[in-house]
Amino acid sequence: MHEERTDKPVALVTGAAKGIGAACCLALAREGFRLGIHYRRSMEEAEELLREVQDGFLLRADLADPDQIDDMVRRVSAEAGRVDVLVNNAGMSINQTMMQMKIDQFDTQRTILKGTWYLVKRILRTFMLRQSSGRIINISSVVAHTGHAGQVAYTMEKAGVDALTKSVAQELGDRGILVNSVAPGFIQTDMTADIPDQVREGISEKIPLGRMGRPEEVADVVRFLASRGSYIQGSVIHVNGGLYSG
Ligand SMILES: NC(=O)c1ccc[n+]([C@@H]2O[C@H](COP(=O)([O-])OP(=O)(O)OC[C@H]3O[C@@H](n4cnc5c(N)ncnc54)[C@H](OP(=O)(O)O)[C@@H]3O)[C@@H](O)[C@H]2O)c1
Repeated sequence: MHEERTDKPVALVTGAAKGIGAACCLALAREGFRLGIHYRRSMEEAEELLREVQDGFLLRADLADPDQIDDMVRRVSAEAGRVDVLVNNAGMSINQTMMQMKIDQFDTQRTILKGTWYLVKRILRTFMLRQSSGRIINISSVVAHTGHAGQVAYTMEKAGVDALTKSVAQELGDRGILVNSVAPGFIQTDMTADIPDQVREGISEKIPLGRMGRPEEVADVVRFLASRGSYIQGSVIHVNGGLYSG
């Protein structure tokens, strides 16, 4: 489906069909953005979200495959011709201890970091550097900072996301492009749906606000970084109910 181009700013959100990504799309749509809704498998949810945000377009790609990322960037060019905000939200976690995890599982875990790195490079080159403006918001995680038993590779990947934020922010400070991370704590989404009730209660007891967060509470911060926050650069903003403050 080809949408007509408008003067609206364009936000591209990866892994947007559900959870934190979908909440980001809804918040950014309310802020006046046209949405590039990226998904991999969750096509029905992505289509439903497009109906809700009204002004946007769908993009399917597996971020593990650079060719699919190239194709996605070409489609964004054709659909919108610009990207003002990129939210790197797609993610997955293999929940295995150091001793359980096999080396090929480690390679699977790190595909999102590599894909994110490549997508940032492509979006910068194709749009933001030419525009001399743009905002990149990377979704990392509190566990990149606290560590987390049973998620060694995931914590390494998310620490890599924050390192990407800090280094690219330093490279692009004088190019009008802001790069920041949002590090959620424990948020109620499909990613945390399988946590047994007893473990969930244990987690909530450790959180000063006494509960897990909602996707909308992360999206609120993403919306702020996308539309205001003009003097925030290379930062990691923690959204975790007080679990960790940096
Ligand atoms: N929930 C939490 O407690 C929590 C805490 C800290 C950080 N985070 C981070 O927040 C982000 C959003 O997570 P969520 O909780 O909203 O989980 P979610 O509902 O599982 O969403 C993650 C999305 O990432 C997409 N994705 C996964 N692998 C992909 C790949 N190879 N290529 C393209 N897309 C891929 C999936 O798309 P499809 O469904 O279309 O395949 C999925 O919709 C993730 O980066 C996660 O690590 C979550």
